[in-house]
Amino acid sequence: MAITFDGQAGVFILRTRRSEYQMQIGRFGYLQHLYYGSPAGGSTFGYRTPPVDRSFSGNPYEAGKDRTFSLDVLLQEYPAFGSGDFRETCLRVLYQDGSSDTDLRYRSHSIRPGKQKPQGLPYVYGGEDEVETLEILLADEKTGLEVALQYAVFEDRDAITRSAVIRNASAQPARLLRALSCCLDAPDGERFDVITFYGRHAMERSEERTPVRHGKIVADSIRGASSHQQNPFVVLCDRNAGEDCGRCYGLSFVYSGNFTAGVELDQFNALRLTMGIHPEAFDWQLLPGESFTTPEVALCYSEEGLGGLSRRYHRLYRKNLCRGSWRDKRRPILVNNWEATYFRFDEDKLVEIAREASELGIEMLVMDDGWFGKRDGDTCSLGDWTVDAGKLPGGLDGLCRRINALGMKLGIWFEPEMISEDSQLYREHPDWVLRSPGRDGVRSRYQFVLDMSRGEVVDYLYSALSAVLRSANLEYVKWDMNRHLCNVWSAQLPAGRQGEVYHRYVLGVYSLLERLTAAFPDVLFEGCSGGGGRFDAGMLYYTPQIWCSDNTDAIERIKIQYGTSFCYPASTIGAHVSACPNHQTGRTVPFHTRGVVAMAGAFGYELDISKLTAEEKEEVRSQVEAFKKHHALIREGDYYRLTNPFQNSRYAAWQFVSPDRAHALLCYVLIHAQASAPVVYLYPRGLLPEARYTFELGGESQLLTGAALMQGGLPMPRIRGDYRALTVELEQVL
Ligand code: GLA
Repeated sequence: MAITFDGQAGVFILRTRRSEYQMQIGRFGYLQHLYYGSPAGGSTFGYRTPPVDRSFSGNPYEAGKDRTFSLDVLLQEYPAFGSGDFRETCLRVLYQDGSSDTDLRYRSHSIRPGKQKPQGLPYVYGGEDEVETLEILLADEKTGLEVALQYAVFEDRDAITRSAVIRNASAQPARLLRALSCCLDAPDGERFDVITFYGRHAMERSEERTPVRHGKIVADSIRGASSHQQNPFVVLCDRNAGEDCGRCYGLSFVYSGNFTAGVELDQFNALRLTMGIHPEAFDWQLLPGESFTTPEVALCYSEEGLGGLSRRYHRLYRKNLCRGSWRDKRRPILVNNWEATYFRFDEDKLVEIAREASELGIEMLVMDDGWFGKRDGDTCSLGDWTVDAGKLPGGLDGLCRRINALGMKLGIWFEPEMISEDSQLYREHPDWVLRSPGRDGVRSRYQFVLDMSRGEVVDYLYSALSAVLRSANLEYVKWDMNRHLCNVWSAQLPAGRQGEVYHRYVLGVYSLLERLTAAFPDVLFEGCSGGGGRFDAGMLYYTPQIWCSDNTDAIERIKIQYGTSFCYPASTIGAHVSACPNHQTGRTVPFHTRGVVAMAGAFGYELDISKLTAEEKEEVRSQVEAFKKHHALIREGDYYRLTNPFQNSRYAAWQFVSPDRAHALLCYVLIHAQASAPVVYLYPRGLLPEARYTFELGGESQLLTGAALMQGGLPMPRIRGDYRALTVELEQVL
């Protein structure tokens, strides 16, 4: 049993293989958090928060003269506004009479095998043999508000997901002003660091680590998408935690819209982590009998440092979040024409790229932006998903037949959520744009955003996109989103419901994705938002890979992929070899190195193959071969970060290890060559200490035990020149 309840003590214990989560129905029925961490060996943690009288921390009325009982001081599971807890809360409800105090007490609970799918939302799924769910019902007697807290325990994956279903069981309407998904409290919080992942377009998910401090540290987005600027993933870890050691907690939001992730250290050094939909501009009407389900948060705990934490997320997301026929399959090696041609292409040009690509072993051509309407630049045609016959006289089917005849698959780009003013769709439906009444609206990349909260917009997109997908043998979709949301107002909703639009937008995107992925189960969907602007667990439920960044410079990508790897597995990270000088940075990096870096993801190319030299084409051939050889290791293997590129500007290294530990691939990039440089030692990880591994290094074949490799390290041969890379394949000798 992953979940147990001790009725006498009122204690719930959620157990995974290497973690334990405890809570207790405390005095007066308040649900209190006790503990999250390594297995506790049978003890419970009620003793950790001794009753103390704290001035200015109020006491519930029932406590009478006992001033030691205060919600402001106790550890909570789901704190509500107005209960005497002055820290960040999860819930704020505005009732009909203008009051907004909510007082939640335990009412009942149930434990059942399996996990239910939340309607319209992505989630971490699992069968009855994998996951067990605890639902704890809390209620406010006075207002009739109920909160059903959901805890799903994935025992073997060392993960727990949390969400809340908030129900208005009263006869009066109420408004939800704040409905977060999760709160995680800990006493003695000063000992922690917090890690967040900030960024910008073309430089996503930079790791930023800081000691907690009194007050709040917040990572959030009010851009309508999870954003390049902050990722909905935070880590809390011991101050001395590293890749292999220290206690680490992760909170990952399975959601793609506005979010907030807060870390608060209070006056008594208690720490509170909260995560959920951003309360800014959120105002959800809850009519009598209605309920609101928050998106879920996936929590993982690791005693084995940040690397251990990442590997738990990788396994969970590979197997229990990503779905569909491509989840466990080798993804086709693709060539995307964006950086090859931008908008300037026609059928013959695409066929030329595909022909050259097919000769080198590449398997799919992805036709990016520019194939529809009159799209010769980024000022027009979004919304008009009909082929530009000028560029593609044979239509999509004609192109597809020519590509397929070369033995190549064809993929296509869409930006479904957007609309150009210069488009047929805009001329017909100006009210389908998200825009406040009487305002012109804010343009971004010359475009507006469609009101995805409207069913008819989603229906239109479903029929337009599915007509395209049916019109030819298209086997891949790149789903882009190239601006953020402003002027968020829907012509279809009354004034009192405009605070629902941001979330309804995301629900609309999810419903379109759900319908399309169900109707085209064999099509591989790749998410994208100006690169990795919506790289989150919500999107991964629909698209098993996401274009990681518009920055294709291999040296910059080392950092971007490093940051991305903290939560997301390599199988989900779209990564391509592009031309040099690189289009974003002007940097020139050897072709081989570009391949080594792109191979730490869903591998492909983003250049005009016909312009490559004979030598480069040879290199493509051997990269394709290498990826075909190592794809399972990269997709299913354990990932180890061996260096931190934000601290080490000299070289970078990472490693994949097969689940049975018999194979490993070590990747090394010398970033900055030095004269008379010290020898670089890499310390592989995750090998079997007793096993013997063969490998080739510096042209010599060698044999060492796993222990020797891990303890003694592997001296890298001297390399001359910046940005050179080498890989070492370790194979167990049986
Ligand atoms: C975004 C994507 C790119 C490309 C362009 C096309 O920026 O991230 O990969 O598809 O749009 O306009």
